[in-house]
Amino acid sequence: MKVFHTVDDARGFSLSERKAGRSVVFVPTMGALHEGHLSLMRRGKELGDTLVVSIFLNPTQFAPNEDLDKYPKTFEADLDACRGEGVAAVFAPSPSEMYPRGKDEQLSWVSVEKLSGGLCGASRPGHFKGVATVVAKLFNIVLPDVAVFGEKDFQQAVIIKRMVEDLNFPVRIETAPIVREPDGLAMSSRNALLTPKNRKAATAIFRSLREAARRVADGERDAAKLTMMVEEAIGASGGTVDYVRVVDTGTLSPLDVVEGEALLAVAAKYGDVRLIDNILLGAAG
Ligand code: PAF
Repeated sequence: MKVFHTVDDARGFSLSERKAGRSVVFVPTMGALHEGHLSLMRRGKELGDTLVVSIFLNPTQFAPNEDLDKYPKTFEADLDACRGEGVAAVFAPSPSEMYPRGKDEQLSWVSVEKLSGGLCGASRPGHFKGVATVVAKLFNIVLPDVAVFGEKDFQQAVIIKRMVEDLNFPVRIETAPIVREPDGLAMSSRNALLTPKNRKAATAIFRSLREAARRVADGERDAAKLTMMVEEAIGASGGTVDYVRVVDTGTLSPLDVVEGEALLAVAAKYGDVRLIDNILLGAAG
């Protein structure tokens, strides 16, 4: 497995793979890899020839008050995990390689309007501008034919799909389902930051999402009743709800009534660890 730290080396590798007639599949990550990331890599292997993974903890998607410094860093273990999944190349640039003038001197940004303002965008202003910009940069460096994103970050996947469509990036976006711990907690690099007590308590998130999906299957259509039930369950477990919303899966607009396809999306804090999760409801579920 090759490990590249510079833009030129990573781009050169992709160009030579493409020239040799091999398609490039890309899984962007911020490291601290877990089974969720590995499932994206496995999906990626099914979708093309040469799998490239990036490991870059992107500073522009974290606000100054957020957990950039606390974000787990496990680089050597991440490389071993990539080797184990048959990754052809890892691109692991430094912040100065990605933002040579410094992030405050980055003057060009990708902003995917409307889709970026709600859900996580409401409590993390600027977050999706940082995400869309770094993903656009990574696409221009790795030159993938296909890129794979996880459905846990549902809003992120919708935003990236729209960016690709609006800006004519020659890349196909694929998504892969959420991977869960045996007790249902969605896998996340941030789970490692939970105290044992909060780790246990946070299982209330998925239990309540599943209960909401069950109620919808039994005929409940009132989004407010569903979100209230989830909010109460998370609150009772000791979590602090950021948002619980039923939204349209395409536009991410809030829905009052669950008809056809809908997404129930949650963000909540346990201690100072912010977790997100979601579940498809109704016809989609
Ligand atoms: O989902 C993530 O890990 C990040 O937001 C991404 C897509 C790698 C961009 O930094």
